[in-house]
Amino acid sequence: MSIQNIMVIGAGQMGSGIAQVCAQAGYSVVLHDMQEEFVQKGIGIISKNLNRSVEKGRLDESEKESILSRITASVSLENASHADLVIEAVVENMDVKTQLFKMLDQYAPAHTILASNTSSLPITEIAAATNRPEKVIGMHFMNPVPVMKLVEIIRGLQTADDVYETIESVSKKLQKVPVEVNDFPGFISNRILMPMINEAIFSVYEGVATPEAVDEIMKLGMNHPMGPLTLADFIGLDTCLYIMETLHEGFGDDKYRPCPLLRKYVKAGWLGKKSSRGFYNYG
Ligand code: CAA
Ligand code: NAD
Repeated sequence: MSIQNIMVIGAGQMGSGIAQVCAQAGYSVVLHDMQEEFVQKGIGIISKNLNRSVEKGRLDESEKESILSRITASVSLENASHADLVIEAVVENMDVKTQLFKMLDQYAPAHTILASNTSSLPITEIAAATNRPEKVIGMHFMNPVPVMKLVEIIRGLQTADDVYETIESVSKKLQKVPVEVNDFPGFISNRILMPMINEAIFSVYEGVATPEAVDEIMKLGMNHPMGPLTLADFIGLDTCLYIMETLHEGFGDDKYRPCPLLRKYVKAGWLGKKSSRGFYNYG
């Protein structure tokens, strides 16, 4: 399957990064969000990243301009009619995603692959909202997308082999390393990462140590580039909570119970770096 035009839905931290690496690889990209200002914010993040690359001498000004010229803004889902591949990166919520996939299924041509960047939600269930479950797949990028090499590719129950092969080859063209997994809650990345983050939050909740101490221990003791609480703030505490809820519900095992402190912060609107407050202050 030949992919030329990619539509990215959701211009937040993941969607903007995905749009950037797709445009850098030469694809024509439509970046879509619910409102023009959200799309422009995403394009702003991309420009900032590209400017940094120019300053560091990795890119020249004309390359930067040509990358940006390959990205078009969208607030209408009807633009899916030109896409060969749609990559969805909206909020980690099954109802929102299935609603969106139903509409994409109507607007996108029959050949279009519909991929989700979900962190944990079942691809099979998202696929079932469409009339093309064989063309639905998980394409899970890591944050920050321009830096992290992994793309976890998740096969839904009915994902076709040629769709898997196409996504594997697009991932390689994006200079990423694809790794295949089957469709179970949290896949591999977040089945392993998120319980560690949740346990770090429990450690603070139970008064075992401060956030600073927890992070220092994991950075200096385990050589992690960021401590788990800094990483949770970076990912978004809302996203961390939704992933833990998916693991808890999906496996029915209390070892995945989200820490009440995580719930409290999300209820307070403390979502981490993106809201300027989480385990740390970013004001
Ligand atoms: N966007 C683009 N580029 C970024 C960036 C961002 N948000 N943050 C950092 N960078 C780039 C910098 O420009 C720099 O590039 P050069 O060296 O080429 O100039 C490079 O990354 C290193 O940055 P810094 O020197 O400023 O900082 P650092 O060495 O501490 O690295 C980091 C930053 C790469 C984010 C590092 O701290 C790290 O690897 N953290 C862990 C990230 C991680 O675990 N991600 C996975 C999260 S889980 C997930 O994504 C899945 C999910 O579903 C939740
Ligand atoms: P974010 O909050 O930064 O961005 C989400 C964007 O989606 C927002 O701009 C929002 O306006 C938009 N949006 C919400 N509903 C929409 C709709 N119906 N139509 C169009 N746009 C809509 O979130 P994020 O961190 O970029 O996460 C997005 C997805 O990527 C989630 O599924 C998340 O689990 C996954 N993910 C996140 C990370 C991470 O570290 N944050 C890593 C890998 C995967």
